[in-house]
Amino acid sequence: MAAVALYLGLMCYFNKLHRKFLNKNKPPLITGYIPYLGVAMQFAKDPKGYEDSMRKIYGDSFTMYVFGQFITVMMSPHDIQKIYSQPKKFDFHQISERHALNTFGMKPFTDENHETHHSLVTHIQNHDLDFLTNRARDLLEEMLFNEKTKQFNQVDMHDWISKIIVSVTTRALFGENIDIESIQKDYPPFDHQFGLLASNVPPFMKKDAIAKRTKFASQYQFEKANDDAAGVIKHRHEIFMEKYNGDKLDVAHTLSVISWVAMTNTLNATFWCMYYLIKLPNSVKQQILDEVRTELGDPEQGKKLPNMTHESLSRLKKLDALFDEVLRITFSTTSTRLVCMPLDFVSSSGKTYHFEKDDFIMLPNSHCDAEIFKHPEEFIWDRFLNMETPIKDGKPVKLGSAFIPFGGGLSKCPGRFFAKNEMKIFAISLLYALDIELVSDGKPEFDRTRWIFQTAPPINGDVQVKYRQRV
Ligand code: HEM
Repeated sequence: MAAVALYLGLMCYFNKLHRKFLNKNKPPLITGYIPYLGVAMQFAKDPKGYEDSMRKIYGDSFTMYVFGQFITVMMSPHDIQKIYSQPKKFDFHQISERHALNTFGMKPFTDENHETHHSLVTHIQNHDLDFLTNRARDLLEEMLFNEKTKQFNQVDMHDWISKIIVSVTTRALFGENIDIESIQKDYPPFDHQFGLLASNVPPFMKKDAIAKRTKFASQYQFEKANDDAAGVIKHRHEIFMEKYNGDKLDVAHTLSVISWVAMTNTLNATFWCMYYLIKLPNSVKQQILDEVRTELGDPEQGKKLPNMTHESLSRLKKLDALFDEVLRITFSTTSTRLVCMPLDFVSSSGKTYHFEKDDFIMLPNSHCDAEIFKHPEEFIWDRFLNMETPIKDGKPVKLGSAFIPFGGGLSKCPGRFFAKNEMKIFAISLLYALDIELVSDGKPEFDRTRWIFQTAPPINGDVQVKYRQRV
């Protein structure tokens, strides 16, 4: 009897869900079989793999039911570009505020013209760029070339690179008077909880994650930003002290957002860059080094690294291509948008989909789409050097729509230039002046559970390397 009641109850429940999506041109709905959870478990285990398998069944657009929420996934790069280019219909700001509150505990504030967002973007990608690049250069030189690195050091590579990137990025942004050791300690536990914090799971199930987040954020509590901090931090500290009536912990939560976004993808991407760079044949390393020497010249007397600016680093096309391939294969974050009004969207397949206000849309990239990137699972270091316009569904796709490691439209990552510069300086240090070798032969795998939120870290244990300054 109980089983029959349960069966009928479930039938009723799923019928109700499906009815919500019937009679209106909606993308196919995938509910799974567990009430409320929907397909959360399958999706969380391997978001990209799950999306790809659903795409094979349902096509480029479908809706998943996850933790009581409907998420429409739009996978065609043609559609993604169309959505990026209509920010009044597909809003980013509301969703970003909701995300910042859930994941970082950043309190909402009034900002009708989105001036704080605008100033964040212009500071990071323009005003602060050479300041941050110079600081990263000096700090990397200090950390990689000192008395300790004159002898061979054997280290876990992800752990080693993470500590360096956390230190360099934090000191470049926040200045020297900051407790780096505590940040290095508090960052990983918070980072591991990120997916849980971002999900729709009820707050009582996130208590431990919230405590870790507060511990991490509290490292950024200060009365005034350091004099040697980057402009973006000084500016944000000032305006948020005003907006939050001088509540230092509230302000610290907003600063922890900048800190996390600046570190998390960069450290994982730098790990993979170094891993693939070390494994390249010597002849290719030499080609890359020759280009670096031609563009940057040799280091000054007594220095290990040449002088660099954003402009000179942007001439390094071979390193750019290598990094783009790393960012392609390690997947990275997915953009999200909120529908602002009831509307009909004509997709690239010719189907018209009806969306309601507040429908939630996810825009995964096409980095593993074999139609666009031949042999997508293979790392081909110079794939991007002379890439032809890709074709998708018989139509040419702009590379900028198919390859979106930094997102797109209004939310395109403002840190993309600094991130690439930091990775380039690391790679240049390795090419110019470090002897480095992998100690074991094992190939690390990507941690697929992190895709959606960040560039994948390695999963099956760390990789051991031996390194020292070249004499
Ligand atoms: C390899 C390194 C990096 C990657 C792959 C990366 C990627 C991304 C992606 C995909 C987004 C979201 C885009 C979207 O929603 O459409 C994003 C946002 C953002 N990133 Fe990065 N990022 C990196 C490094 C950095 C660095 C170093 C900084 C700062 C110095 C930074 C600052 C930001 C900020 C502030 C946002 C939020 C932008 C907004 O709210 O509009 N990122 N990043």
